[in-house]
Amino acid sequence: MDYKITKTEFGERPDYELPKPIFLEEMGEEGLVKLFDEFYDLVAQSDIGNFFPQDEEELQKIKSHNVKFFIEACGGPKYYSEAVGHFDMIKAHEPFSITEKARTEWLGCMEEILRKSTISDEAKKSFWDYLERFSKHTVNVNTGLKLPEDIVKV
Ligand code: HEM
Repeated sequence: MDYKITKTEFGERPDYELPKPIFLEEMGEEGLVKLFDEFYDLVAQSDIGNFFPQDEEELQKIKSHNVKFFIEACGGPKYYSEAVGHFDMIKAHEPFSITEKARTEWLGCMEEILRKSTISDEAKKSFWDYLERFSKHTVNVNTGLKLPEDIVKV
């Protein structure tokens, strides 16, 4: 299983496919709760840990809240829609300055957790492809170096 990360062209909002039913079938809701429990623990200690609360109780709230979204995205019950309503990926991430490097760090944490999971590669790949593409929508800080032809000479 190749945890490939393709580069975001700043501002692109690519289409993406939701994870296939096989992912939730193999993981189960409990499995997803465990996966995101471990994921946010890792993220909170990572290079992008400053985006997340360091207080255990506060982090627990984020875990319980966000896993509702992911269970729903994976084809499970509409926990997030019922609790929150509409989700706007761009607005939700606007308060944070997310660079391509931050996205890569976030995905890297997920790779570390997924590698340990015993579900099939087909299931993992389906979830990974969804995250890899959809996460491009969160990148809201452009750190790309300009090409010489982009630089206007004065
Ligand atoms: C496919 C990828 C991603 C999805 C589906 C996703 C989804 C979400 C959701 C559902 C929330 C909660 C929104 C709310 O109800 O208020 C959230 C919040 C947040 N996300 Fe993401 N996110 C993704 C990628 C990322 C990335 C790449 C970063 C940073 C590098 C990031 C950083 C955050 C932060 C800091 C918050 C606020 C704390 C929290 O509530 O978790 N997310 N995201």
